[in-house]
Amino acid sequence: MWNSFFYKNQNTGAEDNKKIQENLEEIVVPEHIAVIMDGNGRWAKKQGRPRTYGHYMGAERLKEIVRYADAAGVKIISAYAFSTENWKRPITEVNYIMKLLDKYLTNELDTFMQNNVQLRFMGDKKALPEHIISRMNNAELCTKDNTGIILNLAINYGGRSEIINAIKSMTTDITNGRLTVNEINEENFGKYLYTAELPPPDLLIRTGGDQRVSNFMLWQIAYAEMWYTKAYWPDFTKELFYEALRSFSLRDRRFGGLNNK
Ligand code: FPP
Repeated sequence: MWNSFFYKNQNTGAEDNKKIQENLEEIVVPEHIAVIMDGNGRWAKKQGRPRTYGHYMGAERLKEIVRYADAAGVKIISAYAFSTENWKRPITEVNYIMKLLDKYLTNELDTFMQNNVQLRFMGDKKALPEHIISRMNNAELCTKDNTGIILNLAINYGGRSEIINAIKSMTTDITNGRLTVNEINEENFGKYLYTAELPPPDLLIRTGGDQRVSNFMLWQIAYAEMWYTKAYWPDFTKELFYEALRSFSLRDRRFGGLNNK
């Protein structure tokens, strides 16, 4: 089942991609999309299934959305797969998500390679099980030269703790004479974050009906456009994804300035 979905047929995929591009010809496509994939548990409950089934279907949905995003011209997807707060969930659920991740990074690696997807991770790896850390390192290493869409997975990620860690590293550099206080500015600070090499998200999508940021990419989303839907993540279809892209395209992004119209 695991090997089945992602770009499951190259021919169908190519036709699909052409349609996606035609469909989106006129619009401004965000370079970087951040996604809070909420509602897996409620989706499963609605089907009378365990919450873990919702996560399984959520992981499947993510693969599809990466494919649609790539075809639409999006360069980076940052997806919130496991937060620093998610450890509070029942151990069975935490273990299941770890198992899913393990499978994602083994069974799907070939497909990520074939489709030129680059995998990256953000979050505190140290608290994760050893075998997951080595899968993550391996996936990063194997896909590092891929030039297609970047799938940046947030695992054991928290926005506040990312900022605190950045401050600690910056302070160490100041103490060691590698940086001066006068050199502290927004650009330099960004270099201490997990996303040092990535541009900030242009669009933040949240499924599941809540309209909050939940500690996701707090520094990076300063000027991101937000788009929410009541749909649970496993129900986040291609059509809804296009709706988010179209909505983004109509936004007047002023970055605190005035528009030129
Ligand atoms: C939110 O749904 C989702 C999560 C906490 C985890 C997201 C995880 C996945 C999509 C699967 C794992 C991903 C990979 C790449 C292996 P929720 O459980 O909070 O749903 P609820 O709000 O309905 O309870």
